[in-house]
Amino acid sequence: MSTNVNLFSPVQVGPYTLQNRMVMAPMTRLRAINSIPQPLMATYYGQRVSAGLIVTECTMVSPLSLGYMNCPGIYAPEQVAGWRLVTDAVHQLGGRIFLQLWHCGRVSHPALLSGTLPIAPSAIASRGELHTPEGKRAMETPRALETEEIPEIVEQFRKGSENAMSAGFDGVELHGAFGYLIDQFLQDGSNQRTDKYGGSIENRARFLLEVIEAVASVWGANRVGIKLSPSNTFYGMVDSDPKATFGYAIAALNQFGLAYLHLMEPNEVDLSVRDVLNPVTSYFRPMFKGTLITNGGYDSSKGNGIIASGDADLVSFGKLFIANPDLPKRFEVNAKLNIPDPKTFYAPDEKGYTDYPFLELQPH
Ligand SMILES: Cc1cc2nc3c(=O)[nH]c(=O)nc-3n(C[C@H](O)[C@H](O)[C@H](O)COP(=O)(O)O)c2cc1C
Repeated sequence: MSTNVNLFSPVQVGPYTLQNRMVMAPMTRLRAINSIPQPLMATYYGQRVSAGLIVTECTMVSPLSLGYMNCPGIYAPEQVAGWRLVTDAVHQLGGRIFLQLWHCGRVSHPALLSGTLPIAPSAIASRGELHTPEGKRAMETPRALETEEIPEIVEQFRKGSENAMSAGFDGVELHGAFGYLIDQFLQDGSNQRTDKYGGSIENRARFLLEVIEAVASVWGANRVGIKLSPSNTFYGMVDSDPKATFGYAIAALNQFGLAYLHLMEPNEVDLSVRDVLNPVTSYFRPMFKGTLITNGGYDSSKGNGIIASGDADLVSFGKLFIANPDLPKRFEVNAKLNIPDPKTFYAPDEKGYTDYPFLELQPH
């Protein structure tokens, strides 16, 4: 118990001393026209530099990683140039920013991929619908990757990491959460392979560990984080033994000396779908030897509470950072918070993106 620590205590994450323990959680906002980051995104992230660390929205490592129209990529030179606008804006204002590297796997649709079937560990469809240029479409059964194809995907993550470095980021976070490709390999509801990437927990964690190794070969492990969501049910995700699966994966991460592990708590929907592990962070805390970021439904008092308890080192805030560019200041002076508007989460322009007011510009 270290009760004198709170959200405003500085903290070491990898080689960086962060000014506070408030992380801006990764959030897809779909303002990257044709997957190229735009100047408006530099304004948006620049507005939020008072977070100790910003993690960007999930970013495609290859054209087949496209799950949503206008999400950004990091595999083409014009995408790297677009991200450079963002990192320059954040650094000029004194912030720190990691890029979230992402492959959507089966969470896509041929209408998003020029007619190609999405790839996945196994030919098992994700649940739900996606927006495509042809309208809303239910997800279809994906194509199971051949064993020989998997190193190519690992290489895409490595290359994406190299590009993230060229774009000026401070580090990268792997998106291992929410039912995307890494998570699809980990959980047995989506991975029924019979090769060395499926079956036992060790085999299902192999893809994740190979990707970590590839990404760490570029950045050094202490500038690589990973987000996991053991109790997420979105996109039909399920595992027959989440405690064992994620316990194994998290213990295996200890060998690398990562910048951090970012763990997501279940939300109300997850809790209504089935009896998921809750809370997640305190359960896995003893198994992970490094820096831990917790996420999901935190406010100022819950955030300070979990840091004081020692169950987490940092807290990431999602929706509150959408609506409150100066969230740390607001927490510090106990100010009223702007309310996020879900209708503009994925809207195309500045509305609901860069026009949420700062505290000093608002009447008290
Ligand atoms: C609009 C929106 C987009 C999101 N996109 C991502 C994403 O790209 N990557 C990711 O890991 N999580 C994503 N999330 C989940 C958030 O990072 C976070 O886990 C979630 O919002 C719970 O935190 P909160 O209760 O503080 O909002 C997104 C959430 C929202 C609201």
